[in-house]
Amino acid sequence: MNLKKIPYRASHTVMKGAMKILKMPVPSTLVGPGMVKRFPEIIKECKIRKILVVTDKPLMNLGLLDSFLNAVKNNQMEYVIYDGVQPNPTFENIKEGLLLYKQSDCDAVVAFGGGSSLDCAKIIAARVTNDKPIEKMKGLFKIGHKLPPYFAIPTTAGTGSEATIAAVITNSTNHEKFAINDPKLVPLAAVLDPELTLGLPPSLTAHTGMDALTHAIEAYIGWYDTPFVREKALSATQTIINDLEAVCKNGSDLGLRRNMLVASYEAGVAFTRAYVGYVHAIAHNLGGFYGVPHGFANAVTLPHVLEFSKKNAAKKLADLARFAGVGDPAESDNILTMHFIQKIKEMNKNMGIPSTIDALQIKDIPELSARILKEANPTYPVPRIMDYNDCVNLLSNLITPQHL
Ligand SMILES: [Fe+2]
Repeated sequence: MNLKKIPYRASHTVMKGAMKILKMPVPSTLVGPGMVKRFPEIIKECKIRKILVVTDKPLMNLGLLDSFLNAVKNNQMEYVIYDGVQPNPTFENIKEGLLLYKQSDCDAVVAFGGGSSLDCAKIIAARVTNDKPIEKMKGLFKIGHKLPPYFAIPTTAGTGSEATIAAVITNSTNHEKFAINDPKLVPLAAVLDPELTLGLPPSLTAHTGMDALTHAIEAYIGWYDTPFVREKALSATQTIINDLEAVCKNGSDLGLRRNMLVASYEAGVAFTRAYVGYVHAIAHNLGGFYGVPHGFANAVTLPHVLEFSKKNAAKKLADLARFAGVGDPAESDNILTMHFIQKIKEMNKNMGIPSTIDALQIKDIPELSARILKEANPTYPVPRIMDYNDCVNLLSNLITPQHL
């Protein structure tokens, strides 16, 4: 092993031990079509009087919340709505939501929407009981006090935020985007209702689904895997490999939509315990540099990073292939790994996802590589550690040919 990589592996070994001891809650789930109407019965069991519902304006305008809000009233609870969540939630969003919570004398928070609404609601709830600046919550375990009851209703199948300890927030003053990680941010319960995802267009379905697949694969092949992580990651991978293309073609299939919501949740349960890897480090930085959407960046980058990692991850990639039914299970690990990566490339192609990033510019590769490695090394417990030249080579392969 390269001498520079030894401290990274030492850090991974220490953290792996710590992650095994750390207790992380698993939210209970209510799964199935129409279950969003039953969710208030679960919320009511926590003796809730008045809910702050955190969402965005497009979902409000679509009327997607109507059946849930009616059911809240029918269960003799009140609600107020904060629908100002932006695609990248800001400090302002937290301030406005928190003010509404306090002025309205709420005693619970329900997030309704995609990852942005779920993350925003988590931080609003954290601020209810933790009177400290949001910047001071950055990092790991910075939330001192327990949150008020917090529940999640995802309307996309990808981020897995309904199962994770993380919330991402942007400081719009200095444009810094950072994560707050604490087991207290895990919701008490989540509803996985496929009727809420019926309206997602094929491209968004594909990108969010590939984000979930990346969570599952990066959790599985990383060093922090445990039997529980492996079980959830295998199950999520199997579902996404087998159902994602079909649901992109037939978005009104409730069974497939349900499967994708469950897979996204399982992948969330897995990666919140085992972290992610270079695909995410690259996607985060492509997002920061050019605004490339997260799921799309993950989808394009995933096969490239697996090609780089396969030398040290063939056994696990072959496991994933066997479990997902890719290739002949009797084939060698190396051959199955090749089939597995090929399968992901084919899925991308069939869903209209390219193999390169159009926005990526050659001149930015040195700066991007430095930022990617700063994010990933040693935080992400990847199977094969990347150095600067490896990263430059990988990013060069992501350049669209006409930009060369
Ligand atoms: Fe992700």
